[in-house]
Formats: sequence, structure tokens, C-alpha cells
Amino acid sequence: MPAGKRIVLGVTGGIAAYKAVEISRRLVDAGAHVVPVMTAGAERFLGATTLSALASEPVKTRLWDDPDTPIPHTEIGQHADLVLVAPATARVIAAYRMGLSTDLLTNVLLATRAPVMICPAMHTEMWEHPAVADNIAVLRERGVHVVEPESGRLAGGDVGAGRLADPAAIVAAVERLFAPSDLAGVNVVVSAGGTREPVDAVRVIANRSSGKQGHALAAEAAQRGADVTLVSTVDLAVPAGVTVVPVETAAQMEAAMRTHAPGADVVVMAAAVADFRPKAQVEGKIKKRDGVPEIVLEPTPDILAGLGERKPHGQILVGFAAETDDLVANAERKLTAKRLDLIVANDVGAPATGFRHDTNAVTILGTGVDPQVVPLADKRTIAAAVFDRIVSIRNAAP
Ligand code: CTP
Repeated sequence: MPAGKRIVLGVTGGIAAYKAVEISRRLVDAGAHVVPVMTAGAERFLGATTLSALASEPVKTRLWDDPDTPIPHTEIGQHADLVLVAPATARVIAAYRMGLSTDLLTNVLLATRAPVMICPAMHTEMWEHPAVADNIAVLRERGVHVVEPESGRLAGGDVGAGRLADPAAIVAAVERLFAPSDLAGVNVVVSAGGTREPVDAVRVIANRSSGKQGHALAAEAAQRGADVTLVSTVDLAVPAGVTVVPVETAAQMEAAMRTHAPGADVVVMAAAVADFRPKAQVEGKIKKRDGVPEIVLEPTPDILAGLGERKPHGQILVGFAAETDDLVANAERKLTAKRLDLIVANDVGAPATGFRHDTNAVTILGTGVDPQVVPLADKRTIAAAVFDRIVSIRNAAP
């Protein structure tokens, strides 16, 4: 996480310079200290006052104009935890590749030992020019992080590759850079979403689960370096590197978990699995003219309980408990009955928690430890709290 980190935000002269303001605001919101540096070119596109207002200190532009810091480039470069250049023009990329120090930003880039991340933005012809491609390849080899530009509308109405990556994607890349890699090489399987049990060819019995909490768990684990398999009933965005196994019914989810869970170090069952399904699935569509149908239900297998019974030695098994009453007592019962290491209980009746919302509030329960209350927060923060507990169990293991 970028909280407490000192990030030099270098802004160079491109039409996308205005997006640096949004990047700065997001980084400051995430707790970073943003030191803005603008090139002369950037000043033609963006008012320094605007960026100063949304960064952590006033914009610095010149090598020589600060009476308090006679050699600002070394001071700025030495104290940085990251130098982020967004947008990065072809000129600054070339200068950095060649080691040319012509202004404050290029001096900072050479004077720092901190990681450097560049976010190129330019016209398609320039981005695809062999000189630019060569410069980018050399910088990558030197360990510079490159946030690839997107395809889209460019200045002048042209459409093509070269548009600055979305500010949210750039901030996510920064977060990944600072993320603890305490799950590096760990095999994690997460289930997500509500199952849908077919009644006939068009109707299903479903539930209100959105899959957002499960997807946030997968994203958090991946960011911490885990190899993640996500068994999911929903089609939500997944971070690069996560292997998705799409399923729909409880039976399909059970089959997928039977395949993927045995080899996992950590299994988190966040899915809302139907407890009952229609005993017989009608082929085709039930017609109104045939009268009100009687749908006979049968229980589905309890996937998590099965995983608990077959749990390999050393695996950490985590369940969720959706409750409307007696949260802790009910969750504790499930913790023991399903042989879990942790259970994450959420009060699905409380405002802004549980199903469909972007936020959640949970109590994490384990055996022999006090319940941990995680107050209302976005689902990614809840996911981070769950994996913090998983990591502490792993670290305590002999
Ligand atoms: N679960 C499962 N298979 C089922 C039902 C639930 O694997 N058929 C898992 C869920 O993914 C969750 C945990 O069991 O991790 C608890 O689910 P929950 O619906 O809260 O509890 P149930 O065991 O179904 O009990 P109840 O519905 O009576 O509260």
C-alpha cells in the first residue's frame, strides 16, 4: 500500500498532463506523500497551481529557482520511495534511457535509487516508432516499471494505442509495487458468487450474492504474490494472473473445488451456495397453461463441510457465514462443524454490508482466539484483513 510512501510524481508535456491531477489526488487519498515535479512542457498543458493544490507540497519545476534547496534534484531523488512519471512523453523516455539530464525531472530520475514507474502517453505513430519501442525495451531491462498506454481517442480526434492508462490503473500498479508479498508462491483457491440452480430451461433459483467479496479476496491474494484460482459464478473483472474457473450450479462448484482445493495451501469459500435445488430439472420451459407447478427441492452437498472432512495436512480452510441473527454463536457453530481454521461472519441484514454492496463489515472467528471485528470498509479492505489473519496462521505454523 502506498500509505506513508514518498512518491515523486513527474509530469511531462502531453495532453494527458491533466490526468496527473487525478493520479495525485488518488495517491494522496491512499495516504502517500506526493512531491509533484513538472517539466516546462507540462506547464503548457497544466496549471502548476492545480497540481500543487491536490499534491502534498507545491509543484517544483526548475533546477535553480529554490533558494532553500540549492540542489533539489539530489534531495528529491534521494528521499523518494518511488518516482512515477505520468504522463511520460517520448522525449523524457529518450532522455532517461540515454542518461541525459536537461531539467529538474530528468535530473531526479538519474539521482534516485528508488524504483521508477513510467506511464507513456503519445500518438500511436510515436508509440510504435522503433526508437521509442527500443527505449522502452532498454528501460524495462533496467528494471523500470512501465504502465502500458491504452487504445482509445487521442489528441486531435485520432484513435489508436498511446492514450495514458487510466488513473485508477496507474494507482493500482503503484499499490502492487508496494504490496507486501507475504503470499509469494502460495497456492490459493477462492470461490465467489451465488450459485444458480435451474428449475427449467429458462428459470433458476438464485440468491443475492454479487461475488464482489470473493473477487476482492482473489485480487488481494494475487497482489500479495499468491497463485490464485477463482471458482466464480459471476463475470466480474479479475486481476491479471488469476485463473478463473467459471461455474453456475452448486454441483459444478463442488466439482471445481474437488479438483482445485486438494493441492491448495489456502482455500477460501466465499461463495453463497444454494442449500436446496429443484429435484428434477424440467426440460424445456414450464408453460403457464399447465397450471402452477409444484417444485420439489432436494439438498445440495455442503461443499465446505466436504472440504473440511478431506482437508490435507497444513491447508488453511476459511469459510464465510451469512447471518441475520446470533452472528457470533452461529458462526462459531459452523467453524467447528465444518472443521475450519477461520470463519468470516457477516451480518447480511445490516445496512451497507454483505450482498450487492461495495462495502462490508465482518467478524473473523478462529479457534482459541478472540473474535476480530472489522468495521465497515470496502470489500478489498475486508479481504486484506482476512489475508492478514491467514498469513499470521501460516507464520505461527511449526
Ligand atoms: N457452503 C457450502 N455449501 C453449501 C452451503 C454453504 O460450501 N451447500 C459454505 C459457504 O460457502 C460458506 C459456509 O458454507 O463458506 C457457510 O454458509 P452459510 O450459508 O452461512 O451456512 P450454511 O452452512 O448453509 O447454514 P445456514 O444456511 O443454515 O445458515
